[in-house]
Amino acid sequence: MLNGPNMNLLGRREPEIYGVETLEDLETRLRGVAQDLGVEVEFFQSNHEGDLVDKIGECVGGSDGIVINPAAFTHTSVAIRDALAAVDIPAVEVHLSNIHAREEYRRTSITAEPCVGQICGFGLAGYELALRALAGMVC
Ligand code: DQA
Repeated sequence: MLNGPNMNLLGRREPEIYGVETLEDLETRLRGVAQDLGVEVEFFQSNHEGDLVDKIGECVGGSDGIVINPAAFTHTSVAIRDALAAVDIPAVEVHLSNIHAREEYRRTSITAEPCVGQICGFGLAGYELALRALAGMVC
């Protein structure tokens, strides 16, 4: 479960858009879901594009699926798009907010194209939906 820039500030970051729950709350929730599903989940957050690219590459051989919220890199990062395409591991892109109902520059995702699908607008529940969808595909 990969989270991009500023997701470490979840809970205090524009709470009217992203809610008041923290990244730690998300991880606690998702660990419970993973336990129910009988899958293991690893969490990684970085504010740095290269770290996310490295982490996606490290998934080869060790991960059956990727849930990623590339955050602002969604709209800019060919490198993250290429990393997702390169590893050929099913990935789901998640956004807390409905990026299609926000500023024009958020409506395009460069990173969604190599993903199986995109879930946005459901807050933290989107990560749970993504995990359930991936588990259904690979288990
Ligand atoms: C976001 C949407 C992005 O546009 C923004 O840059 C984020 C968070 C979301 O989860 O809604 O950092 O990915």
